[in-house]
Amino acid sequence: MTTSRADARLFVALDMPDVTAAEALIDKLGDDVAAYKIGLELLFGGGIALAQQLKRDGKSVFLDMKLLDIPNTVEKAVANIGTLGLDYLTVHGTDRKTLDAAVMGRGSSRLKLLAVTVLTSLDALDLVEQGIGDTTPAQLVVRRALMAKAAGFDGVIASGHEAAEVRAAVGPNFLIVTPGIRLSAGPDKDQARVMTPAAAIAAGATHLVVGRPITAALDPLAVVRQVLAGLA
Ligand code: C5P
Repeated sequence: MTTSRADARLFVALDMPDVTAAEALIDKLGDDVAAYKIGLELLFGGGIALAQQLKRDGKSVFLDMKLLDIPNTVEKAVANIGTLGLDYLTVHGTDRKTLDAAVMGRGSSRLKLLAVTVLTSLDALDLVEQGIGDTTPAQLVVRRALMAKAAGFDGVIASGHEAAEVRAAVGPNFLIVTPGIRLSAGPDKDQARVMTPAAAIAAGATHLVVGRPITAALDPLAVVRQVLAGLA
């Protein structure tokens, strides 16, 4: 009998166009993965039905919708998503009104709300371009993490580079979910602020999101096991 080494701190990002592709990967990963993230790409390829199937199979499911709209729309969307019985949902954490609306919309559902602080694809120059270059990405992440905590969110999405500063600012009981994970350091296609699994956890991340290093691998299960070794 093989012992499952799954660790619910690892979310595998199912960034693929349809359920057929996603199920092929899920089958390969089997009991070694306990938690999946479904984002905008798979949403339009049967992602919600797959999310519910994953729940029936006992997995933890993170719906990465990165909601951002007027408060009324966000509140109603979160309320509707709350009826699906999933575990985590992302909302852009750029303004307090949207965060408050999301908390209202969650009501008594089990959804854990995570605020996207600053996308891990952005760097300091991108902030300058947006007219907010008087703050560094790390300062902005910490500021938005404090705002999300004050609004009643369960945690934030932040890169490993800011995890330690966020942890120091928000205290122990707040989730820090970290994408931009790479097995070795160095430049990457579109992720600007990347980190290895072990380094992200050491910096204070509670969960990791890993997409292409697993989904694009010739042997995805081997990569999952490498990530799990970094978490151990
Ligand atoms: O393929 P890769 O490991 O870069 O995937 C990272 C995943 O995390 C993607 O699904 C992306 O949408 C998500 N994400 C991110 N940065 C954020 C929030 C979510 O990369 N700030």
